[in-house]
Amino acid sequence: MVRDSALFYDVRRTYEQNYREGPFGAFAEALAADTADVPRHTASDAGDAPDAAPDYELFGNPIDLPFGIPAGPLLNSRFTTAAFRMGFDVAVYKTVRSRAWDCNPFPNVLAVHPDAPDGALHPGDPQLDEGVLADDRYEQPLSISNSFGVPSRDPDQWQPDMRDAIVAAGQGQLLVPSFQGSRVAGMDTEAYIADHVTTARLVAETGARLMEMNTSCPNEGRNRLLCNDPTLVGTIAEAVKSEIGDMPLIVKLAAMATDAELERMVDETAAHGRVQGFAAINTISGRLVDRDGRQALPGEGREHSGICGAAIREAGLDMVRRLSAIRARRGLRFVIVGVGGVDSPSDYQEYREAGADVVMSATGAMWNPNLAREIREVRSVR
Ligand SMILES: Cc1cc2nc3c(=O)[nH]c(=O)nc-3n(C[C@H](O)[C@H](O)[C@H](O)COP(=O)(O)O)c2cc1C
Repeated sequence: MVRDSALFYDVRRTYEQNYREGPFGAFAEALAADTADVPRHTASDAGDAPDAAPDYELFGNPIDLPFGIPAGPLLNSRFTTAAFRMGFDVAVYKTVRSRAWDCNPFPNVLAVHPDAPDGALHPGDPQLDEGVLADDRYEQPLSISNSFGVPSRDPDQWQPDMRDAIVAAGQGQLLVPSFQGSRVAGMDTEAYIADHVTTARLVAETGARLMEMNTSCPNEGRNRLLCNDPTLVGTIAEAVKSEIGDMPLIVKLAAMATDAELERMVDETAAHGRVQGFAAINTISGRLVDRDGRQALPGEGREHSGICGAAIREAGLDMVRRLSAIRARRGLRFVIVGVGGVDSPSDYQEYREAGADVVMSATGAMWNPNLAREIREVRSVR
């Protein structure tokens, strides 16, 4: 494990400090060096000429290595540009909103220690309600909490920055903007749908080639996820698509417990051409407690938090396998972005074999900024 001081998103500083001063560690060095030193196209065939066409594509965009960092830890264009330089070829710009939105109070990240022999957490696991120990002992295999509340700058700030992020992608690299709707007091469903459409339009204005819609943070209030309502996701996706036209839309999902739920999500979205891809999974929500059994994160409404990292790897792989099976059985063509607990080249490979077209790592990459480089090295000697 790298030293905590080398994290590109430093969990010991506030979100605001990270936004203004980050990235840190190796990402900061890559940004200062102003050049990418990760070898390009060392992909599957070691005999290829270095400048041969990339092996992969995402919605027609060539991708050198289908690996990247999902929505969250890349707060602005400095972070996404550094990620590109470190060889993360698909970088997701942190979820933006139609309006400025505050971050939850510090701290936002704690180390999480599930009580299970294999350390895994699945949706419906009783300890998610009974309490999972959280503290500041960051140990491998690493799982963390993620309690930010999806903060956003005002569009006047994030739009020009997102534009910079998009043009900083090198050959074989792609910037994916992430957005979500904002449910505010007094807003009815129609206005909530309209807020998604407005935000998608603001994203499209930046020159985006595709976008990801987050339906898997507590957008609907405490512990309520939009993706638990596939009909509403379908309605929103249809409205968003009528705004963005041919631009591909990915929907970010949480782990869904039953096949019936997942099948219904596909029915309401991809089966109608309203959605061209799914990213899975987002964090799994759990009640976090300190060693005395008290609420671990301070403040009202923060009894539960999203958990990510090693503990959710099996749940992420399971969702990717199930999505892949539905895709094959129904002859659909949606893209699958596999996320959750990826921390090594073998995790990357396992997700690819499960059916992921692109694989991403948030927690793993935060603690190992060389993860994309390591995956390239393993692939080049195969
Ligand atoms: C610091 C941090 C912030 C995150 N913020 C967002 C976000 O704004 N939008 C989103 O869709 N997912 C967000 N996520 C969830 C990740 O995209 C990802 O789905 C989750 O962390 C599982 O991947 P991992 O196990 O590799 O961390 C965040 C994750 C982390 C660690």
